[in-house]
Amino acid sequence: MADKRQIKSKQRVTDHGEVFTSQREVNAMLDLVKQETERIESRFLEPACGDGNFLAEILRRKLAVVKAQYRQFPPDYEKYSILALSSLYGVELLPDNVEACRKRLFKIWNKAYTAICKRDAEDRCREAARYILAHNILCGNALTMTTSAGTPIIFAQWDLVYGNQFKRRDFCLDGLLRGSRPNGPPEDAGVQLSLDASPSDGPEARWEYDKASKSWWPKPIKDDYPLTDYREVQNHG
Ligand SMILES: C[S@@+](CC[C@H](N)C(=O)[O-])C[C@H]1O[C@@H](n2cnc3c(N)ncnc32)[C@H](O)[C@@H]1O
Repeated sequence: MADKRQIKSKQRVTDHGEVFTSQREVNAMLDLVKQETERIESRFLEPACGDGNFLAEILRRKLAVVKAQYRQFPPDYEKYSILALSSLYGVELLPDNVEACRKRLFKIWNKAYTAICKRDAEDRCREAARYILAHNILCGNALTMTTSAGTPIIFAQWDLVYGNQFKRRDFCLDGLLRGSRPNGPPEDAGVQLSLDASPSDGPEARWEYDKASKSWWPKPIKDDYPLTDYREVQNHG
């Protein structure tokens, strides 16, 4: 039986099935994939994320790992705590929940960041964190995979490439989850595939073949973002 903290109103339960998961259940479920929740760059998507019960706990776990590894060296703590934050994604139908989720994750990250980096903590890094959350926690419908404006949900993927450099690439959620992966290697594994494939194109148009791993990977819909210092991603959107 749900307790008071899990329900905002009966109307919202009726209209949107909004019953938040209790902390005990969140922990029990995350423990099933414990190793991944403690891997700094491991990506998680919470569809129908509410105010982020699962994402908040994953962030706490990842930040505990970042702290254990890098607390003696605040610049590295800063970098890897941003990487941890950038690995979390959510989709939620109700705008007030989206706002609450972004704020909640920012608060958890910022509290830990400020405590460890103290006077080295920078506002531009806080701005980068807010920017990443604005792109990773999106208002939309996880069933139709569209935003409240009716456009496809597009997520930014952030990779720490080397040093302090982040590479951003954008992916269409629909393409990641629904597209069927082509079978076997392409006839010409070196073929260059178009970045503006339409849904009517075959699966090869939405996937690219990686010769090294001999497997197909989803193609980004935009990948020409410049390499950017992780504290400056907000200036290169
Ligand atoms: C049962 S609650 C779970 C919230 C959170 N994941 C948790 O475990 O505490 C379901 C949430 O999904 C949202 N929701 C309902 N339909 C949705 C849809 N089609 N796409 C995205 N979110 C949806 C509701 O607004 C609500 O916040």
